[in-house]
Amino acid sequence: MAVYSEKLEKARKYEVENSADIFNTEKPSFHITPPVGWINDPNGFSCYKGEYHLFYQYHPYSTHWGPMHWGHVKSKDLITWEQLPCALAPDEEYDGQGCFSGTAIQDGDRHVLIYTSVVDKEQQDGTHLIRQTQSIAVGDGENYEKLICNPVIKADCLPEGSSPVDFRDPKIWKEGDRFYAVVGSFAGDGSGQLALFSADSVDDWRFEKILDASRNEYGKMWECPDFFELDGRQVLIVSPQFMESRDLEIHGGNNVLYFVGDYDREKMEFHRGEGFQVDYGLDFYAPETTEGPDGRRIMIGWLQSWDNYLTPEQQKWSGMMTIPRELSVQDGKLIQRPVRELENYYGKSVQERSVHVSGGSFVPGRDAKKYAGDAAEGAGQMAMEIAGVRGRQFDMTVEVESGSYERFEIDVACGNGHKTMIYYEPEASVLTFDRTYSGHNRDTLCSRSAYVKPQNGKIKLRVVMDRMALEIFANDGEQALTSLVYTENDADRIVFSSKKEAVFTVQFYELVKK
Ligand code: FRU
Repeated sequence: MAVYSEKLEKARKYEVENSADIFNTEKPSFHITPPVGWINDPNGFSCYKGEYHLFYQYHPYSTHWGPMHWGHVKSKDLITWEQLPCALAPDEEYDGQGCFSGTAIQDGDRHVLIYTSVVDKEQQDGTHLIRQTQSIAVGDGENYEKLICNPVIKADCLPEGSSPVDFRDPKIWKEGDRFYAVVGSFAGDGSGQLALFSADSVDDWRFEKILDASRNEYGKMWECPDFFELDGRQVLIVSPQFMESRDLEIHGGNNVLYFVGDYDREKMEFHRGEGFQVDYGLDFYAPETTEGPDGRRIMIGWLQSWDNYLTPEQQKWSGMMTIPRELSVQDGKLIQRPVRELENYYGKSVQERSVHVSGGSFVPGRDAKKYAGDAAEGAGQMAMEIAGVRGRQFDMTVEVESGSYERFEIDVACGNGHKTMIYYEPEASVLTFDRTYSGHNRDTLCSRSAYVKPQNGKIKLRVVMDRMALEIFANDGEQALTSLVYTENDADRIVFSSKKEAVFTVQFYELVKK
């Protein structure tokens, strides 16, 4: 039997003995969460021997970021995930400061992981020498061994001025017999670039060229690149740090952008179009994609943000992943829908057609006295609830007919004086997610908006909620808004209201764990 490092054994033992599942029955059921501790980026999303595998950035020992391990789960249907033992620990001289993000591929019988190995050595003068390189681990779907020749890619082959410190998050793929990898890097101009490498075997890489670059137009360092063909086009996804806001189209800070373009494989040249935001919510970062056995391109993202994460003190875990999403390209835009497998978890359903609603809902705080602090009572006779449409684990589609209404609002997680608002204002064509009144008293960044245009005389909102995870898809996946909502789980009412009369249809499915 293979011998594992002390660090890996320790992590594996710790996660079994401290699994947060036994302490916490309040976790989402359909979103991947850690057994214990902190997680960020999805890693190594891949199909291996007919099952989906997902790894993630993982610090089992606290609910904050720390020396990165790779946690591991697998699934047959992308919705029910089986916990596997921690796959990588920062246990080598070249990765002692962390096994940062990376990706995976099946190669024959082997499952090949490529990740960023980080060292941070204190020098005699007290300064730190930090280096990021790329390393390989090979395994059987449960146990992985790092190559003796690691690291296999170093920054010294990059163009002059490129940083040896910010050089990370390799995405691996294969074309014919040849491997390719694209790695995020910090260029001499102080913004992101993507370095393209190729290899005949995964221990011997060659620098090809700089595939694309921010040129200070799209944020600074480009993290977690992904590059794939879809519907006859080539798609690049990157997670730029420190974006500046542009109207509602791009929000500031860490963001995720996609570029649809064309790729000349021979010349290895990518001609990209304009950059668009992948998700307009508060909590979405560092997504990865993989191709399913049936040819679907599937994306999964980290459902949390770096700058404004609100993990409650008593929680023994922090961070989760989105529901995996099927991607397609239509008219040069990326379309995202929750994977169809979610439908296998539908329970009780309610359908209501041509519902008329008018009248505003309450404002907690201001109207608290008048309405005894309860959303449904507060909403009075004007706002409405629909029998059976209630809960914190559901998949609900609401279609609002174009008309003279000024604002249509769906409040979810309502109760105990709290609510989370999703509202559409047709004059401005703006959809807003707002958790101002969700009851979290450290939440300072509470709302985000996106432009949503009516389609065939209506707007269509699909709301997938799984306790504190909320994913909104507008117009069959043209826009997504993903955010966390830390309202107590018994706040489970759903209230509809509008300014001036609106007419809508609801299709509601409870989500039930098998
Ligand atoms: C993105 C990121 C990656 C890095 C990892 C470290 O969220 O900063 O660039 O590999 O997280 O945990």
